[in-house]
Amino acid sequence: MRLPVGALGGSLRVYRAVPADPSAPPASASSSGPSAAPRADELRAAARAAWAIADPRGKAAAAAALAVAPMPEPDAALVFDDALRPGRPALPRLVHPRDVPQRGAGTDEGRAALLHAIAHIEFNAVDLALDAVWRFSGMPDAWYRDWARVAAEEALHFGLLADELARRGHGYGDWDAHDGLWEMAMRTRHDPLARMALVPRLMEARGLDVTPLIQRKLAQAGDATAVAILQRILDDEVGHVEVGNRWYAFLCERAGLDPLLAWDGLADAHGASPPRPPFNREARLRAGFTEGELARWG
Ligand SMILES: [Fe+2]
Ligand SMILES: [Fe+2]
Repeated sequence: MRLPVGALGGSLRVYRAVPADPSAPPASASSSGPSAAPRADELRAAARAAWAIADPRGKAAAAAALAVAPMPEPDAALVFDDALRPGRPALPRLVHPRDVPQRGAGTDEGRAALLHAIAHIEFNAVDLALDAVWRFSGMPDAWYRDWARVAAEEALHFGLLADELARRGHGYGDWDAHDGLWEMAMRTRHDPLARMALVPRLMEARGLDVTPLIQRKLAQAGDATAVAILQRILDDEVGHVEVGNRWYAFLCERAGLDPLLAWDGLADAHGASPPRPPFNREARLRAGFTEGELARWG
């Protein structure tokens, strides 16, 4: 399935993250990056600034620039504070998940609402990746570069969906949305291990499972463009979950924790339920989950 030429534009290659080498320990990349690579504090300062931008397109542009642009000198007055809310536009209105209207993929309106719901997830994902860059101090340099690359890819995903919504006569903010992703981000804001366990390894990984199901519905409705956009997103999301798995393993090892037992404890502590099958096994294994984990949850 090919995307229409206009859907991706010339920026695609620039923003495409280099897949991390899963065989390399996360910290090893900190000494092997190019000498022009931004320092961790510069990346953190730029990510904190992008996180605060309320305009969706402006935030996405700032996030995308993290991976490619020279960084400003960090603002000495800038404090990596304990801020809770990233910049957000006035719309969409955030409501309880049960109040988000569900629409089928059988109508133009329903498919636009579905793309809008995914655009909202991607907008949150931009903030989640930016948050991982700026909020956690004392991590290896590779942590900051990994999450900056993820932020740039999430910005691309948001842009693809926002552009497609515009082609369909809609825009981000046209439907209500919910705040579940961000609530988990804030519950895990003091602990990078909990963040890895419950955001990329739980919530983001769920996207690997459900995206092919959504693609099937869209394909049945003949919406090849939407299917192709979701395929691009799915391909990238495997990489994001892989980053989460790799850093989760690193942090468990550093703390002397058993990864399986630690996950159970973190899920209990933060009110999360284990992932439920059916799993997209192929994608999850590629993203670094083990057969043992899938068997335990399956
Ligand atoms: Fe994404
Ligand atoms: Fe992602």
